[in-house]
Amino acid sequence: MTVSRCATMTDVTSTWTEPSNTATALLLLGRGSDPASERGVDCPGDLPAPSDPDLVARATAAKAALGDRVFVLGHHYQRDEVIQFADVTGDSFKLAQQAAARPGAEFIVFCGVHFMAESADILTKPEQKVILPDLAAGCSMADMAVLGQVETAWERFEDLGIAGDVVPVTYMNSSADIKGFVGRNKGVVCTSSNAKRALDWSFEQGSKVFFLPDQHLGRNTAVLEMGFDLDDCVLYDPHKPGGGLTDEQLRSARMILWRGHCSVHGRFTIDSVREVRERVPGVNVLVHPECRHDVVRAADYVGSTEYIIKALDAAPAGSAWAVGTELNLVRRLALAHPDKQIMFLDRTVCYCSTMNRIDLPHLVWALEELVAGRVPNVITVDEDTAHNARVALDQMLALP
Ligand code: 13P
Ligand code: SF4
Repeated sequence: MTVSRCATMTDVTSTWTEPSNTATALLLLGRGSDPASERGVDCPGDLPAPSDPDLVARATAAKAALGDRVFVLGHHYQRDEVIQFADVTGDSFKLAQQAAARPGAEFIVFCGVHFMAESADILTKPEQKVILPDLAAGCSMADMAVLGQVETAWERFEDLGIAGDVVPVTYMNSSADIKGFVGRNKGVVCTSSNAKRALDWSFEQGSKVFFLPDQHLGRNTAVLEMGFDLDDCVLYDPHKPGGGLTDEQLRSARMILWRGHCSVHGRFTIDSVREVRERVPGVNVLVHPECRHDVVRAADYVGSTEYIIKALDAAPAGSAWAVGTELNLVRRLALAHPDKQIMFLDRTVCYCSTMNRIDLPHLVWALEELVAGRVPNVITVDEDTAHNARVALDQMLALP
């Protein structure tokens, strides 16, 4: 499972060297792989050094040489050094749409994480290649739902005789396997921008929703946007027999939430909200719906990364905002709006470590490989899985 590497505010400016040959020594990003804990990748050929002063010039030249053959997508949580080369930036919903809308591009270089690149592969033409510059850019939340576990849960619903009432809904942040499972069982994919629309549609198809893998997005949407009670939601824990739920709990639940969460957004607590309100009178608290329920309830505004960007663009000069989402985005927004006081909701700094795997050396490497006629790190979803996942993704793209 991937983890977030965090540092306190005072750590970030100091120079620190990983001691070698210790049990806890960390791999330099992209310089090796740890198959026990991550997908891992060796970059064949020359991965440029992060200190190479020509990285920007090299990326610019490689991109210019490729011209319209390449289209670079950048998720909002990517580093600035990478975002500057994105043809389009967006949240996971916008990037899925953009990938589908570029049939002319031979190569889609996806600066984001693995599940996003899988979705792009599913939504693009077979001859288009989707490239993830570092295959170790996974997602700990997506890793929390494994197909075998989800099928075991579904068998339990079938044994209980409730499967016919249950509509599976998976957050975009899930593997292609899980999306395929959802498509096979007549469900839908959602993102943080359209979760309510996806649930509205699902409750027209059945009386219960099985929501994967982010319990917080599922609970926050059902309770805060659709008027369900917390008691209507139960938590299915794949590590407990029967999910840790009684037959009666499953029969009476409206929302069966998978026990998954985002390790970055899960760090924000109700104390962070209280503390910032005391420290900055009049502050607006704006959070992503992957945050815990009590945090979202205590916030003033909640929405996807795209929503957060628009809210801050529209905010009046002089207003103060504490933002609960990934730090690359919050930093970029603070720099873009010097007339507004924009701060990170928590006192400690935490990037999404897997988003950060895509750095400029990896982007340069991937682009230069393409210029040299080699196609690195292609993300391919097998046709059967892709077919079923496409059903669930197309259902999402067709939501009213
Ligand atoms: P959105 O891009 O849908 O806002 O999701 C945030 C996220 O955590 C992506 O990994
Ligand atoms: Fe996964 Fe959270 Fe990172 Fe998004 S921010 S890629 S959900 S771990």
